[in-house]
Amino acid sequence: ALITLRQLLDHAAEHGYGVPAFNINNMEQGLSIMEAAKASDAPVIMQASRGARNYANDIMLAKMIEALAEIYPDIPLCMHQDHGNNEATCMSAIRHGFTSVMMDGSLEADGKTPASYEYNVDITRRVSEMAHWVGASVEGELGVLGSLETGMGEAEDGHGAEGELSRDQLLTDPDQSADFVAKTKVDALAIACGTSHGAYKFTQKPTGDTLAMDVIERIHAKLPDTHLVMHGSSSVPQYLQDLINENGGEMPQTYGVPVEEIERGIKHGVRKVNIDTDNRMAMTGTFRRIAKEKPSEFDPRKFLKPAMDEMTKLCKDRFERFGTAGNA
Ligand code: G3H
Ligand code: 13P
Ligand code: NA
Ligand code: ZN
Repeated sequence: ALITLRQLLDHAAEHGYGVPAFNINNMEQGLSIMEAAKASDAPVIMQASRGARNYANDIMLAKMIEALAEIYPDIPLCMHQDHGNNEATCMSAIRHGFTSVMMDGSLEADGKTPASYEYNVDITRRVSEMAHWVGASVEGELGVLGSLETGMGEAEDGHGAEGELSRDQLLTDPDQSADFVAKTKVDALAIACGTSHGAYKFTQKPTGDTLAMDVIERIHAKLPDTHLVMHGSSSVPQYLQDLINENGGEMPQTYGVPVEEIERGIKHGVRKVNIDTDNRMAMTGTFRRIAKEKPSEFDPRKFLKPAMDEMTKLCKDRFERFGTAGNA
């Protein structure tokens, strides 16, 4: 059944677990996540970016959510807008059946310019008020995602802040978070702690200097009742880099967010953990493997089915490690 982010994260906080929020763009990703949830008896957050909505079409996504809820009637399912950038994205998502939206006002609507605090409070408060009128939940974001190694806001995948940012801009300020949540009344708060989107987060295994988990602990101490969200939480596991590179890929060596750091976050108020890149790598690595092993194969299902199995395996692992399993 469809539920809101608020309902799900309240339950997660009460029982001390975290919930992965997996991005979807198509039917295969939707089915892979739901199969994992069924096997793990876990509640689900699925999220669609603006890019996903353009790719799949809003009506297709809306019907897909409805279909997945019907196929898996026993799995609580929250459908969330990932990185909404203005009121219109958020309201149109709700109109298409999303039960939750992110208003990301950490950047201006161009998606590049770090926004002023006043801009962020103002637009997030407006979306929060409207979404709550119709029973949808809201995630806000304070602080700009980006690398503490290089000072670069976001990256290679084309979205996120432009240019070099200060350590202050790249880390959420605990005092400001309390003011932000009070003013905007968001249901969940995305924070910046040195993670970034995509595969190239760290050039070596992160340390306390490059992945500032202590910031999360300080925010949680100020806001013990606020559900925290970690973006850029793919672990970019070595086995998936190998799967891609052993089958003709050329991804330079890279490091993601270790799962044990996420487990530490979950002990300190992190309830929603955004993961897209790992699942992309699981699927694409499998496509490459099949293409190499069976060069005469041309039925897309022979690529997609094993790719779905690889994605399901990854999702199940995160449901287990985050404590989501058994909570459906
Ligand atoms: O926000 C980051 C997610 O990985 C979505 O990426 O905008 O390429 O769909 P996307
Ligand atoms: P990754 O690129 O680490 O998977 O992060 C996804 C994300 O934060 C979506 O909002
Ligand atoms: Na942002
Ligand atoms: Zn994100």
